[in-house]
Amino acid sequence: MSNSKNIKVSDTAFVTCAFRRLNEKLSGDYYAKIWSNANAEEILRDYTSKVSAEEIETHCIRNRYFLETIKTCIEQSEIKMLINFGAGFSMYPFLVDDSIAHVEIDKPEVVAYKENVITELISKKQLPKRDITFIGVDFSTDYFNSLLNTLKQLINNKPCFIIIEGVLFFLNKSETELIFKLFNELQNTNDYVGSVSYTEDVLKTNAYSRLIAYTNQGLKDASTEGCQIVPTQFYENLKSYNLIEIQDYYSCSKIYGHTPKLSPNEILNESFYLLRKK
Ligand SMILES: C[S@@+](CC[C@H](N)C(=O)[O-])C[C@H]1O[C@@H](n2cnc3c(N)ncnc32)[C@H](O)[C@@H]1O
Repeated sequence: MSNSKNIKVSDTAFVTCAFRRLNEKLSGDYYAKIWSNANAEEILRDYTSKVSAEEIETHCIRNRYFLETIKTCIEQSEIKMLINFGAGFSMYPFLVDDSIAHVEIDKPEVVAYKENVITELISKKQLPKRDITFIGVDFSTDYFNSLLNTLKQLINNKPCFIIIEGVLFFLNKSETELIFKLFNELQNTNDYVGSVSYTEDVLKTNAYSRLIAYTNQGLKDASTEGCQIVPTQFYENLKSYNLIEIQDYYSCSKIYGHTPKLSPNEILNESFYLLRKK
């Protein structure tokens, strides 16, 4: 694991997007290619060779599951707003119906860059117009009250879907509890949360040992005590939410007609949770 590249948490947003670009049909993200750049490609090659080559497909499947789930909620008129925590370079606003309002929250440098590029591409008509509010926040700082007030005004009681994918690994336990407290204060009955995390099952795999070694050597600005596992009981014990669905890479591969290539020991299997406010 020597010579891992020095990477920042924000680089992971570019790399996750690059995974989706490499199998557009599986991910359903036909806009991921917009964010392609040489640094992300280099990190991607380094990461897939040192951690797991199947990371391309696991990330494509994750995006596909949430894309299809959000589309279904929209078709059934259950949501009017999508709020993406740690949105990175997700392109859901452009992949779903244009009637939906979007809020994208991430580290200030990530959202500033994304907003600039998106605004320019919309003005050149290379992307369709969408209603997106970008908010720069670091979830490791004292953000709670100001973000709560800003989001309450934006939501204005609209039924919403909150998504947090690929983020909890970078936060610690108290930061995770705080963010779910925020979700609870923001949402009304029947609103959704979609969340992604690793369970303790991943701890036994070779791929996870390599991920931790890679993260410890290469990633410089994650939260103290990050690299988080979230037991399924965390979601089951949320008093204000019903856990209505749990999927993962293997169950969704069956749904989307994909066959995993490597042995389970070499795959980083994330769980996808769908929660509904009581
Ligand atoms: C692996 S990327 C996933 C991006 C996106 N959700 C996706 O699935 O494509 C992790 C994202 O979480 C954001 N993130 C990590 N820690 C954060 C923090 N403390 N505050 C705000 N954003 C954070 C990163 O900037 C990055 O965009």
